[in-house]
Amino acid sequence: MPQIETVLTPALFHLHSKNLNLKQVVVIDILRATTTMVVAMENGAKEIKAVANLEDTLMLKNEGYLVAGERNGVKVEGFDFGNSPQEFDKHIVEGKKIALSTTNGTKAIAACEGAKFRYVSSFRNITAMLHKLIDNNCDVLLFCAGWKDKFNLEDTVFAGALIDQLLQNNFTTTDDASIMAQRLWLQGKSDLTAFLADASHVQRFKSLHIESDLEACLKFDTYSGVLSL
Ligand code: MLT
Repeated sequence: MPQIETVLTPALFHLHSKNLNLKQVVVIDILRATTTMVVAMENGAKEIKAVANLEDTLMLKNEGYLVAGERNGVKVEGFDFGNSPQEFDKHIVEGKKIALSTTNGTKAIAACEGAKFRYVSSFRNITAMLHKLIDNNCDVLLFCAGWKDKFNLEDTVFAGALIDQLLQNNFTTTDDASIMAQRLWLQGKSDLTAFLADASHVQRFKSLHIESDLEACLKFDTYSGVLSL
C-alpha cells in the first residue's frame, strides 16, 4: 500500500526529502499561491511558471510572460498582477504565459524539484488531484507551504481532506502529521470559513483588506484539471 506523509512546514521538508524521486508531491498553499495557479489554468492560461525569486520572475517578461507576485501578501511594485485568484480572469489570462513568485508557495515548489511527480493543488481542483494521486498509486508527500516556515491551519486542513479520501482508496499512513491533518479536516469540513476565521493568514487578509480572497480560495472543484510542474 502506498504511504502518505505530510510536511507541516518547509522547515521540516529535509526530514521527508529522502527518495523524493519515488514520491508524488503535492505543494499546498491555499491562501493563496496554489489556488491562484489553479485558477489561472482554470481560466485558460497557456502556462503558469513558479519562480522563487523576484529578479528571475521579472526577467521572464522578456520571454513574453505576464509577471505576478506578492511579498507579505502585498502585490510587487511594477508587476502585472499580485497573487489574488480574483485577478486571473479569463479575458486577461486566456492563452497567456504567467510567471508567479510568492512569499512561501513558490519557494516550496522549488524545494521539491526532482520528485517523481510534482503537483500544486487547492480546493478548486481537489477531486481531480485525488484521482491523479490514486491513479499514480505511489507514495505521496503533501507539502504545506505554511507562512515563513511556520505552520498554518488552511494548508494542513486541505492535506487532511486528501488524506481522508486516500485512506479509503488503498493508501496508508504511519505519520502523525497526516493523522492530525485528517482529524483537523473532519473537525472543520462542515464550515471551513468559520473553522479558519481565526487563522493567522485570514487575520493578515483583514489587515490588508483582501478578505474577499478567502471565499475564492475555499471554492470546491471549479476545475477538473491537474497542474503538474
Ligand atoms: C504565499 O505564497 O506565501 C501566499 O500565497 C501569500 C499570499 O499571497 O497571501
